[in-house]
Amino acid sequence: MRLQSFHLSLLGILICTDFPRQVFAASAVQLDSSTTYLLPMNFHENVSEPFLSTKAGSPNSTARLKAAANVPFVAFDQEFLDLLPPNASLKLVANASYPFADEMGVWVWDRNEVWFTGPTINESNYLTVVDLDTMRVYKPNTSIPVVNPNGGYYHEGIVYVAADGNATSAPAIYGVDPNTGEAWVVVDSYFGLRLNGPNDVTWTNCGNASYMFFTDDPLSALYNGGLLPQLPDAVWRFDPQQKTLLPVIDQSDISVPNGIRVNKEGTKLYVTSTPASYNYGSNGTASSAIYVFDLDQNGFPSGQRLFGFAQRGISDGLHIDDAGRVWTGEADGIVVRSSSGKVLGFINAMALLDASEVLAGYSLQNFALAGDKVVVLALDKIWVVQLATHIVKCGGLGQGEGCLS
Ligand SMILES: *[C@@H]1O[C@H](CO)[C@@H](O)[C@H](O)[C@H]1NC(C)=O
Ligand SMILES: *[C@@H]1O[C@H](CO)[C@@H](O)[C@H](O)[C@H]1NC(C)=O
Ligand SMILES: *[C@@H]1O[C@H](CO)[C@@H](O)[C@H](O)[C@H]1NC(C)=O
Ligand SMILES: *[C@@H]1O[C@H](CO)[C@@H](O)[C@H](O)[C@H]1NC(C)=O
Ligand SMILES: *[C@@H]1O[C@H](CO)[C@@H](O)[C@H](O)[C@H]1NC(C)=O
Ligand SMILES: *[C@@H]1O[C@H](CO)[C@@H](O)[C@H](O)[C@H]1NC(C)=O
Ligand SMILES: *[C@@H]1O[C@H](CO)[C@@H](O)[C@H](O)[C@H]1NC(C)=O
Ligand SMILES: *[C@@H]1O[C@H](CO)[C@@H](O)[C@H](O)[C@H]1NC(C)=O
Ligand SMILES: *[C@@H]1O[C@H](CO)[C@@H](O)[C@H](O)[C@H]1NC(C)=O
Repeated sequence: MRLQSFHLSLLGILICTDFPRQVFAASAVQLDSSTTYLLPMNFHENVSEPFLSTKAGSPNSTARLKAAANVPFVAFDQEFLDLLPPNASLKLVANASYPFADEMGVWVWDRNEVWFTGPTINESNYLTVVDLDTMRVYKPNTSIPVVNPNGGYYHEGIVYVAADGNATSAPAIYGVDPNTGEAWVVVDSYFGLRLNGPNDVTWTNCGNASYMFFTDDPLSALYNGGLLPQLPDAVWRFDPQQKTLLPVIDQSDISVPNGIRVNKEGTKLYVTSTPASYNYGSNGTASSAIYVFDLDQNGFPSGQRLFGFAQRGISDGLHIDDAGRVWTGEADGIVVRSSSGKVLGFINAMALLDASEVLAGYSLQNFALAGDKVVVLALDKIWVVQLATHIVKCGGLGQGEGCLS
């Protein structure tokens, strides 16, 4: 049953309920996959510009890239095109005068809603919801404040929120019942020390047990006026059966853990790492990258393997579809990789953001995989991409909730 009357406050500033559903020109283009590693030799690189702006060393190659530069869907593999319907389009469903849609991207499938958070402005941030049936945008009225929310995950009827707190409220993982607004703190400390600023959270079920993983970075101090970190950055595993919180990945393995998801089978844990020196060839000791771990039947990760680098910038928000494809929010757009790491294609940031936003260094962080839709959180806009097929199934499966045990 849908609870339309749940305590909500409408965001009056957003143009949403009766927004003209603008449909952009249909457009997808396929480039040969060799373009990603072989260009005529006198090409010009510029890490500040999108891949498709590369002057590719011959007029024909440059023209091919340029022709794709603003096309919404850019494929390097037929598998990406097969996800799209004919005439795939970006549908604008919300457009505001300030950035409000940036992080989280959680599909609450039984309410057909996407829960998300904005960028931190003036040290504060809040939860927002878009109803995919009506495209109404609202702020959920939670029973206690969820202080400076960031990433999140929907697990067995509860929206789990990684929240960065502030100087007086400790960073924490919250649970929120989307039907009632009831909210509570799940985890907020390790032997009396605050978390640093939970970034993203996910769950997996293994047999009768379920485990929660979250990434922790000094976000509270960096963005929310919070305290300086006392704990090392880490990936944590919470075991509600054993009432145990354990660090499972150290900062020497993942320097700045950010996005985190488990595959549907519960066998792989993916984590993005986003150290400050974004560009490759930097003097840092850590890379901005996606890593994959094997996950055992007790929810312990091991066998770290480098999975991919962002084309530029960082890989931030991370989602895994039921076929094991890995979707990440990156500077050039929403990048889709096969489970073996091939970049299959991307939803082009140049079509999602205003050129001025791209040039000002803003980039996409996150989005939601919502059944047969991708809901793109593009700062001052929300776009919906209708896919040809369901890539995550409702009913609690999808995005890693399942487990082969
Ligand atoms: C939010 O919930 C509180 C208590 O549950 C209630 O007093 C308040 O009126 C609600 N606000 C809105 C805007 O629904
Ligand atoms: C690289 O691109 C940036 C952004 O467009 C531009 O400002 C800069 O001049 C370019 N650098 C070179 C060496 O072309
Ligand atoms: C470049 O493209 C033109 C027009 O499609 C074609 O005639 C020409 O042979 C191409 N040149 C090369 C070197 O591929
Ligand atoms: C795609 O769009 C073009 C131009 O708008 C139209 O002619 C064509 O019929 C459309 N094809 C499909 C399959 O909808
Ligand atoms: C979003 O709204 C702004 C201000 O009303 C308008 O200028 C802009 O064209 C809109 N964006 C799109 C993609 O419709
Ligand atoms: C942030 O704070 C500045 C200075 O107090 C204020 O002018 C601005 O309106 C605030 N922005 C938001 C979104 O609250
Ligand atoms: C922290 O957040 C809580 C809940 O929103 C608020 O009441 C409190 O004033 C905030 N503390 C600071 C120092 O901003
Ligand atoms: C798991 O659940 C099954 C069925 O409910 C039960 O028979 C079994 O004892 C449980 N195993 C554990 C380890 O709790
Ligand atoms: C090392 O990298 C940092 C971050 O990118 C940069 O600020 C610093 O100047 C670099 N130092 C050297 C010696 O290149």
